[in-house]
Amino acid sequence: MKTPIEWNKIYLGDASELLEMLVKDSVDLVLTDPPYFLDKLDNGWDPKEVKVHTQNQLIKHLPAGMKFDPSQGRELQLWYGAISKKIFDSLKPGGFFLSFSSPRLVHRMAIAIEDAGFHIRDIFIWLYKEGRPKAASLERYVDKEDRPKLAGWKTPQVRGNYEPIIVAQKPPEGPLVRNFLKHQVGLFNFTEKLEGGYTPSNVLQVEELEGIPPIFLVPKPKVGEKGEWNDHPTVKPVNLLRFLIRLTTKKGGLVLDPFIGTGSTAIAATLEKRHFIGFEINAHYYEIAQKRLALVNREKGRGGEKESSLLPLLPLLADQT
Ligand SMILES: C[S@@+](CC[C@H](N)C(=O)[O-])C[C@H]1O[C@@H](n2cnc3c(N)ncnc32)[C@H](O)[C@@H]1O
Repeated sequence: MKTPIEWNKIYLGDASELLEMLVKDSVDLVLTDPPYFLDKLDNGWDPKEVKVHTQNQLIKHLPAGMKFDPSQGRELQLWYGAISKKIFDSLKPGGFFLSFSSPRLVHRMAIAIEDAGFHIRDIFIWLYKEGRPKAASLERYVDKEDRPKLAGWKTPQVRGNYEPIIVAQKPPEGPLVRNFLKHQVGLFNFTEKLEGGYTPSNVLQVEELEGIPPIFLVPKPKVGEKGEWNDHPTVKPVNLLRFLIRLTTKKGGLVLDPFIGTGSTAIAATLEKRHFIGFEINAHYYEIAQKRLALVNREKGRGGEKESSLLPLLPLLADQT
């Protein structure tokens, strides 16, 4: 069924308004990486709502995105709860809602999603090696005589090496099997070989770690994949998104990303022969998404698409700009 919002298009605008224009029960999968409420990280997200309360002078000096403010979590839960209700309405019964999150705020996001009516099925862990050390030394903020007491002690932030992905499901209509036969969603796809031939696991590993088999090789995207003109701070790897789309939808299904950033979900859906709808509030990221998508479609038109991986394709695309 066609929605008033056209398929295979990215719309510039606010997700909370655009979500209301979708046809009820029409979307097979919602796959999204929303703003995490970390200050200055998503400059398109309503800045009035993201208040940074700096009661503590020391905290003021931490880099953007690392300030600790307990009210952020509460505000995120409220905001994401309202978004999740709209997402719930758009999904087919049994449809999955996969939401990237952050280790610090995943509990708030999961409760927001659950309270909107979803069943929480799992929390996948995407591991990566590229995490940077985050902890800051504090010696310079205290008097000289106290500095030795702080030697080696830093803010409570270790290197971030994983992102949680909340796996939620809209309750099916009756038994899962009936729901699947009627709506084509609600089960996981174990038929297609995953990268390396491994059975899907809730740990999505990027590189071989000692003693653990490489379940799914997905490094953070490099410049070749993102486009050298892509300055978005949180671009997701297309191969990871492709895996999640294959796991949860059939070919021809509709994938919605209400916070699409630079279009990674649209590219992944296109390469997996699914349809997509994307929303993005920031005009700059929207333009980058259009550019990336146009390059992929152009390359696909030339028959240059690789079935197994986008990685060999995108450096090629970047060269053409
Ligand atoms: C974490 S980023 C997504 C990045 C994306 N996964 C990619 O690979 O490029 C979240 C995006 O949501 C956008 N955004 C924030 N608030 C929004 C809103 N109310 N409606 C639509 N988009 C919004 C931000 O501008 C940002 O680009």
